Amino acid sequence: MKISDIKNISIIGAGNMGHQISTLCAIHGYKTTCTDISQEMLDKANAFVDKYLPGRVEKGKLSEEQARQARANLRFTPSLEEAVKDADYVIEAAIEVLDVKRKLFADMDKMAPPHAILATNSSYIVSSRIADATKRPDKVCNMHFFNPALVMKLVEVVQGPHVSDETTAITMNLCEKLDKVPVHIKKEVDGFLLNRIFKAISKEALWLLDMGVASMEDIDNACVFGAGHPMGPFRLMDLTGIDLAYIAETEAFKKSGDRSDLPSPSVVAHYVKGEYGQKTGKGWYDYSEKQ
Ligand SMILES: NC(=O)c1ccc[n+]([C@@H]2O[C@H](COP(=O)([O-])OP(=O)(O)OC[C@H]3O[C@@H](n4cnc5c(N)ncnc54)[C@H](O)[C@@H]3O)[C@@H](O)[C@H]2O)c1
Repeated sequence: MKISDIKNISIIGAGNMGHQISTLCAIHGYKTTCTDISQEMLDKANAFVDKYLPGRVEKGKLSEEQARQARANLRFTPSLEEAVKDADYVIEAAIEVLDVKRKLFADMDKMAPPHAILATNSSYIVSSRIADATKRPDKVCNMHFFNPALVMKLVEVVQGPHVSDETTAITMNLCEKLDKVPVHIKKEVDGFLLNRIFKAISKEALWLLDMGVASMEDIDNACVFGAGHPMGPFRLMDLTGIDLAYIAETEAFKKSGDRSDLPSPSVVAHYVKGEYGQKTGKGWYDYSEKQ
């Protein structure tokens, strides 16, 4: 397969990442089908696109024709089979739970055309933990976008030992077609590149907070005004989801047995209260009034 053979892209999951990746693909000319098990999430994603595209036209970032074409390229369906049956490339962005992803990949393997590449946008799960649920492991890889996917340029493409050079090359090329900057990660490693670096920063930030050394506002300010980060670790966690941090760290602990991998007490406190960050209106910061 060549990059020019990719015409139809399917996105699995219409949440935080899925609705933005879907919009991105549609804007860049791909016939895009997005699916989710939640009709509410599909409706929300649809409403987002209806608002986002005219907004881009108003800002002069898209012509009216480009916006009309992008809208025509994008559809939403609750049926997984309907979503992937004509796919050339699938990007899975469902919740970060290994068993859910393995079941999805096993199902998609049966439903998608044999040539289709099945990529996961997972932040922490390497594709070798999923690929053996399919009969096409050479076509199963990690394609890791960053949040918000319509804005952030970086995509990490991870080539596990089972992934073919062709799958990697097409995935890197697809990133470029989507106007992203791909980096090729040649070995599977938990957290890939950037999340490993962020994990080290956020671990230290949480320790400083839990020890009462400084407030979260001051820790965020130190990172923004001292290190030039666009946002501090607490704002970033609110954006990416405290639930995601909790799940990723719990999984890391299950694997390593190392207590230092456990989520910090303050992350657990937010998680059990359902305070996941921006998506629930409250996390480290309160978004209810401001938003
Ligand atoms: N949030 C981030 O900053 C971020 C960044 C990069 C990658 N990721 C990864 O992207 C994936 C999605 O994360 P998110 O933040 O968008 O999560 P989210 O909770 O916002 O959305 C997940 C969606 O998956 C849907 N879903 C659950 N099971 C499904 C199934 N069987 N079939 C179809 N849809 C299903 C849910 O209904 C939900 O809408 C995760 O693997 C995560 O690790 C997240």
